[in-house]
Amino acid sequence: MAHKAFPMESSSKIFDEYYIDEDVGFALPNPLEELPYPYDAWISIAKNLPVLIENGELRAEVEKLPVLSINDLQGHKSQRLAHLVLGCITMAYVWNRGDGDVRKVLPSNIAIPYCKLSEKLRLPPILVYADCVLANWRKKDPHGPMTYENMDILFSFPGGDCSKGFFLISLLVEIAAASAIKVIPTIYNAVQHQDQETLQKALHVIASCLDEALKVFHQIRDYVDPNLFFNVLRIYLSGWKGNPLLPEGLLYEGVWDTPKKFAGGSAAQSSIFQCFDVLLGIQQSAGEASAAEFLQEMRTYMPPAHQNFLHSLESGPSVREFVRSKGDASLQKTYNECVEAMVLLRNYHLKIVTDYIVTPARQQSKKNQKSEEPSKQENKGTGGTDIMKFLRNVRSTTVKALMVED
Ligand code: HEM
Repeated sequence: MAHKAFPMESSSKIFDEYYIDEDVGFALPNPLEELPYPYDAWISIAKNLPVLIENGELRAEVEKLPVLSINDLQGHKSQRLAHLVLGCITMAYVWNRGDGDVRKVLPSNIAIPYCKLSEKLRLPPILVYADCVLANWRKKDPHGPMTYENMDILFSFPGGDCSKGFFLISLLVEIAAASAIKVIPTIYNAVQHQDQETLQKALHVIASCLDEALKVFHQIRDYVDPNLFFNVLRIYLSGWKGNPLLPEGLLYEGVWDTPKKFAGGSAAQSSIFQCFDVLLGIQQSAGEASAAEFLQEMRTYMPPAHQNFLHSLESGPSVREFVRSKGDASLQKTYNECVEAMVLLRNYHLKIVTDYIVTPARQQSKKNQKSEEPSKQENKGTGGTDIMKFLRNVRSTTVKALMVED
């Protein structure tokens, strides 16, 4: 049972090695809000996206930007802030009013620094979840709690408060679930030392953090309007992979000679669900190949330290096998509570996707009097997947992981 190369002995090691924070998990702790001259030019555009788009000035403002070297962007937090603002500006430049008038070329004055920075951070040159959710927040009162009321986002897209609701609730779900990360080393140590009692207690913590995450998720209905999400925000999060509006992808002028395809921003790029899938031995790779492939691909949109964390978890001893081998009904029950909490999260997520994408898409096609069925594209997520099929598949793999007593 010895796993020498397995670096998970203590939670402090996890926090240091994998850019995971004790309080906010995979989120960036206290993100920076401003960049010094000359990068403040990017910030001023990103701060005013909705107004600039509304006034028809956004593209001209972007085209006026000087080409900046990224060499003076010192430190991880400055670089993450710059990746976020360049991502917001790029989405706004490509989609502009979201009315189908798209740009297929990103001008070199923004494409060059954006791609250089992306290479440095090893993130793709498109707005990712690690930007718009994990690095896009502040506390109003720095000494106050991490609650919706005491928080705000730094950058928004058109669609009023929709950006705030969607980004902040995603972040708060993420943070609620992340409080379970600290027990991961306890779980692996307990498995290695065959300590059932400690394992069971730690699994209880996982289940209750996931239950809490679900409670937070319910708030999405209070803060995000389905029609605004579907008709406005979703457009700005869309990518250029599998998107008929940019079938070849986006040309990053001055960087590559051919257009490149990248998937849009989505919480499928969050590490937190994948982390508990791995920990509990919910093998998404055992589901449909395309779903597993998509989830693997989404890992390449996560910060490299978080990808390494997931990879490292995979090299740990199997919690599931241990629970099964013990044949202890009470331990199995606690393990099942964790899997069940993942099922409930995915059930609720499916309901949300029905209300925020499938139903508005159907209403829209009725309005267009074309057909009763939403068009194929409308039924695709921002990442370009055939969403309901994919999400049901992921849920069914989760359900199958529930352990039945022999
Ligand atoms: C209005 C709210 C939401 C909508 C409309 C929505 C939509 C979607 C869609 C369409 C997908 C399919 C993949 C893609 O096309 O990118 C997806 C996947 C996913 N979403 Fe969401 N989402 C919402 C909120 C959230 C939140 C708050 C979380 C949790 C932080 C979340 C976590 C996930 C995860 C983990 C996946 C990957 C599939 C899985 O592991 O079950 N989503 N979402």
